[in-house]
Amino acid sequence: MEIGEARRIATKIYVGLARVLKFPSFIQFEPSKKCNLQCEMCEYNKISGGKVMNFKEFKPIFKDIIKANPLSKIFPKIMLFDITGIGEGLMNPDFLKILRYMKSKGVTITFATNATLLTKSNSKMLIENNIDIVFLSIDGATKKTYEKIRKGAKFDHIKKKIKEFSLLKRQLKKNKPKLMIRFLASSFNIEEMPLMVDLAEEIGVQGISITNMNTAPGEEYLKADKKRFDELVNIVKKKAKEKNIQLDVGFTKRRPITACKRALNSMYVSCEGFVLPCCFINQGGRYEEITKKYNFGNVNKINIKDIWNSQKYKKFRNQIRKGIAPPVCQGCYLFYPIKK
Ligand SMILES: C[S@@+](CC[C@H](N)C(=O)[O-])C[C@H]1O[C@@H](n2cnc3c(N)ncnc32)[C@H](O)[C@@H]1O
Ligand code: SF4
Ligand code: SF4
Repeated sequence: MEIGEARRIATKIYVGLARVLKFPSFIQFEPSKKCNLQCEMCEYNKISGGKVMNFKEFKPIFKDIIKANPLSKIFPKIMLFDITGIGEGLMNPDFLKILRYMKSKGVTITFATNATLLTKSNSKMLIENNIDIVFLSIDGATKKTYEKIRKGAKFDHIKKKIKEFSLLKRQLKKNKPKLMIRFLASSFNIEEMPLMVDLAEEIGVQGISITNMNTAPGEEYLKADKKRFDELVNIVKKKAKEKNIQLDVGFTKRRPITACKRALNSMYVSCEGFVLPCCFINQGGRYEEITKKYNFGNVNKINIKDIWNSQKYKKFRNQIRKGIAPPVCQGCYLFYPIKK
């Protein structure tokens, strides 16, 4: 059996057991609400950013999770944490300390970065601590498109930083972190998807994950022609196979809300400690308002297991199971309600 297949089965078992033991199987932390870019499509442009989750705040919360989850001793590696929110993790001075501490408990860690702040020293730390996957957000294969979307970043600069990262990985003879490009598809950039495969090869990354918008701050983003998008995805698939680049194509059409696994199995913790179902609630500039209004509690005050099993959270999950969109999900572009 391949490692990938073994892990898939173990994850399935873990998710089932976590449900029986009344614990979320996937937890996402927002490390920072600070960012150095102003990407066109991002909610970050509309929040009063500035807060970061520091190590002193993070440590007791994480300790609590490890203690409260009976599976953390048996299956540490299957416990998956994504350390990404609105903002740039590498803007948090304690980010690497947080990751190192988490890794000391043996869990699996992924995070997304705009790659602008990668340096030799933080790259080395990420490699030496076996961070599992780093998603590099690159929404264009040309300088023009990339810099139009990722305002404040320089295409040549991030390419250089990622090449250096890949080289360091080879020099240290490490397979991890796996480097994946995260490409947010829109009408502005879909024509460049095939070129993304060449870019991936050039900068030494192992895969490309194509995702779509969850919100509509600019309607343009949602107008990407679906027929053309599908044609391009077929070209990309062929090219990626030839070049041995992994390709994951995320949601390309909305699905019924009952299919939302995030709502049922996972939890998102903002850098202030507020618990939400996921990071996709950031609809059209209302992220902060929605966080305040609909959060399930604050992990700085209430144990995470108690929040997960609170009446409010249970009611939320029951609504999802019935196909009703709870208020917090009502602006989500990934899933649609099947009942009022
Ligand atoms: C919000 S960013 C935070 C991490 C980091 N600053 C970065 O850019 O990767 C996380 C991911 O969300 C994506 N993103 C930004 N705005 C989005 C939106 N409105 N809908 C869906 N994904 C979005 C970004 O492209 C990025 O890959
Ligand atoms: S997508 Fe990432 S880099 Fe761009 S503004 Fe949002 S948080 Fe910052
Ligand atoms: S329906 Fe959308 S907003 Fe609600 S939990 Fe699922 S992905 Fe998140």
